[in-house]
Amino acid sequence: MNIAVIGTGYVGLVTGACFAEFGIGVTCADKDEAKIARLQDGDIPIFEPGLEEIVRRNTRNGRLRFTTDTREAVERALVIFIAVNTPPQADGSTDLSYVDAVSQTIGECIDGYKVVVTKSTVPVRTTERVKRTIEGAMQASGNGRHRCSVVSNPEFLREGSAVEDFLRPDRIVIGAEDEEAIAILKDLYRPLYLIEVPFVITNVATAELIKYASNAFLATKVSFINEIANLAEKVGADVHHVARAMGLDGRISSKFLHPGPGYGGSCFPKDTRSLVSFSREFGVEQRIVSATVAVNEAQTQRMVEKISEAIGGLSGKTVGVLGLSYKPNTDDVRDSPALEIIRRLQASGARVRCFDPQAMATAALELADVAFCDDAYDVAKDSDCLVLATEWNEFRSLDFARLGTYMTTPVLVDLRNVYVRAEVERLGFRYEGVGR
Ligand SMILES: NC(=O)c1ccc[n+]([C@@H]2O[C@H](COP(=O)([O-])OP(=O)(O)OC[C@H]3O[C@@H](n4cnc5c(N)ncnc54)[C@H](O)[C@@H]3O)[C@@H](O)[C@H]2O)c1
Repeated sequence: MNIAVIGTGYVGLVTGACFAEFGIGVTCADKDEAKIARLQDGDIPIFEPGLEEIVRRNTRNGRLRFTTDTREAVERALVIFIAVNTPPQADGSTDLSYVDAVSQTIGECIDGYKVVVTKSTVPVRTTERVKRTIEGAMQASGNGRHRCSVVSNPEFLREGSAVEDFLRPDRIVIGAEDEEAIAILKDLYRPLYLIEVPFVITNVATAELIKYASNAFLATKVSFINEIANLAEKVGADVHHVARAMGLDGRISSKFLHPGPGYGGSCFPKDTRSLVSFSREFGVEQRIVSATVAVNEAQTQRMVEKISEAIGGLSGKTVGVLGLSYKPNTDDVRDSPALEIIRRLQASGARVRCFDPQAMATAALELADVAFCDDAYDVAKDSDCLVLATEWNEFRSLDFARLGTYMTTPVLVDLRNVYVRAEVERLGFRYEGVGR
């Protein structure tokens, strides 16, 4: 079977490479010429553990190809995955222009039966819209005699462990209205079927909603524990013990109960706001998710205030920030709390020095007037405070004695609660965590 993946970003590249690993012929298309040129040269444009190896292997054996020509990819394929970006608009609704553009192209060049799959995260009813757009373009281009099924197959991979998540997912969700398309997708995912990954086969709207409900629920856990952390600080409780004891209850689970600077990344912030927005279009309020969003936005400012209190105001101070990506093991800085905190520190008159093991290049496109440093020790030079913003492994065993010699004042604001207060204080540092 040959398939096409349109959009070769974090999701598209992992999807394409992993299907090639299953033995399927994959053409990945992207309109970004520079990205495709790099991929054709064997260079991986994103940092994602384990991805380089499988891209290289499958490019070499001819199962994985890259092109800027969506038509060429569509013509070769039985199944076409739409994996383009679906960014937020100012009002929280989802910008579907990229999905629309790809749907239009597919309709214009369809040359036989195809299964078109929405892999991008799209508001409920978008897969129906994709079908309408394709059929409209087919009619207008004289391709009306061909058939096409449209399926929703949301993606749940996490950046940082995307390859592993794709090859060993918790579940595969397929939303479709016709048996032929379901059979083809099951065939495509056969290697996962064989290792007994659960398949949830539903109608299209259900599949679309599963993705939003899952992300919104996880985001809600984060906001929930952050509000409990804020209370813990006031009443002299330690939120870690609270979260641990809560998590030992199997009905709750310990996952996503980590207090910190709030959730970020390319999914939770936009998907929660999108769910609130498109629910309203159907006349339904999502009050819990709306509160989750509001709590998350307030958490960023709380972190800035925490830093300010730790060093007696921000104006004229130098703050060193460790970590820029929204979580470890990725170079993705989209909606990263670290970046928003840096912007607010700067707005309050602080100078910022920073370092990230992988996200310096992506962050440099988003930040102005910061000093990009060589490592944590370079960041510490002349800093009034170090802020641990992203819990990369290399920040987990810092040499505080050495850091202290470089800093103007030895203060650690640990937004990820990586360190134990007593140990850091013993080394002469003032310590502030979250919810402890
Ligand atoms: N990143 C994640 O962890 C993740 C996880 C699950 C779901 N998703 C969803 O998957 C989708 C893609 O996310 P991503 O992070 O991979 O985005 P991304 O921005 O990394 O990649 C999207 C790619 O699509 C390309 N593109 C846009 N329009 C195109 C067109 N008309 N033709 C060809 N290529 C086009 C862009 O150039 C870009 O390379 C989004 O809907 C996102 O919500 C993302």
